[in-house]
Order: sequence, then structure tokens, then C-alpha cells
Amino acid sequence: MFENWEELESNCLKCTKCKLCETRTNLVFGYGNKNSEIMFVGEGPGEREDAMGMPFVGRSGKLLDAMLSEINLSREKNIYICNIVKCRPPQNRDPLPEEQDLCINWLRNQVYIMKPKIIVSVGRISAMKIIDPNIKITKDHGKFYVKKNTVFMPTIHPASLLRNPSQKELVRQDFLNLQQKILEICERTY
Ligand code: URA
Repeated sequence: MFENWEELESNCLKCTKCKLCETRTNLVFGYGNKNSEIMFVGEGPGEREDAMGMPFVGRSGKLLDAMLSEINLSREKNIYICNIVKCRPPQNRDPLPEEQDLCINWLRNQVYIMKPKIIVSVGRISAMKIIDPNIKITKDHGKFYVKKNTVFMPTIHPASLLRNPSQKELVRQDFLNLQQKILEICERTY
């Protein structure tokens, strides 16, 4: 494990552990307030993210930012955002299990340094990888899970909301649950 962000990020940026390194434009390490109490973890970079080296900067990201702002969260201020895999899977396919396994230690190291109180899994892939492989996102979104002193909450991916806008109300409710949890256990977020 690397003990500080600079060392972790500079090593991660050089990663060649899986084949996704061959097709990436930029590795997407993460973005936001590294001293915050809340980490959001998506699935993996898409086309815009790969082009810019930043997480959630495409249409999904814009929607995520808008919904986060409804509960006064923003990556500039009080959250950190990253992904399960740091490099874009070609054609935006789901990251393969072996790609997730080869990449997950970067995320573990991010969590180790940041020590977030709450981790929000954005979407099914993230929830199954870091909360519970048996999670059903349609049923379990907005619920809280506690592991090793950290609270986890899965929510529906904004790409799914773009396809199916009626789900926005479900995510609004997830985020209200999250806001309540933040008020209960976080000291520096609001
Ligand atoms: N979808 C994700 O899961 N992560 C991103 O960074 C962008 C889109």
C-alpha cells in the first residue's frame, strides 16, 4: 500500500496490469475533495472520461452532479469520485471480472488513504464488486450496509436514469437517505 496520494496516483497512472492500458487515452484516477468523508465509486470511464482523464464528465456525470447538488454535495467541495476500473473498457462494455480484480487494489489503496465514512456505489457493477456480489440494484438501492466501520449505499447508475427518467425519483429518495446518514455520522461534510 502507498501511504500518500501523490505516490499512489503517480504509480497508478503508469499501470499496465491489464489490457485496458493498451486502448486508454487517459487513465482516470479520480477527482474531488480527497479530505472529504464521502467517496462515490462508479464502474469505469466512458468515452469522455477517457478523453479528459476525469470521472463522470459525460452526460451521466452531468446528471449525477445535478442530483448531488440537490443534497448540497459536489466534487469541488465535499465528495471524492472514482471508479472500480481506472481505464475505459472498449465500446463501454462492462469491465470483465479479471479487469476488476486486477484494478481493485488501486481503489483499496484510495480507500485506505482517504478513510471515507460513507462509500456510495454508483450502479450494479460497483455495488456487486464492493458491497455484495448478490446485490440486486433494483431492489437494494438506497439501503445501507456496514462493513469494517464504513457505511456503504448502492444507488442506480445515472446512465440508467438517462434511459429511464422515471427512475429519477428513486435516486432522489436514495440521496435523501444519504443526506440523513451524513447528518448522523459525518462531521465535516455540511
Ligand atoms: N460511468 C461510470 O461508471 N464512471 C464514469 O466515470 C463515467 C461513467
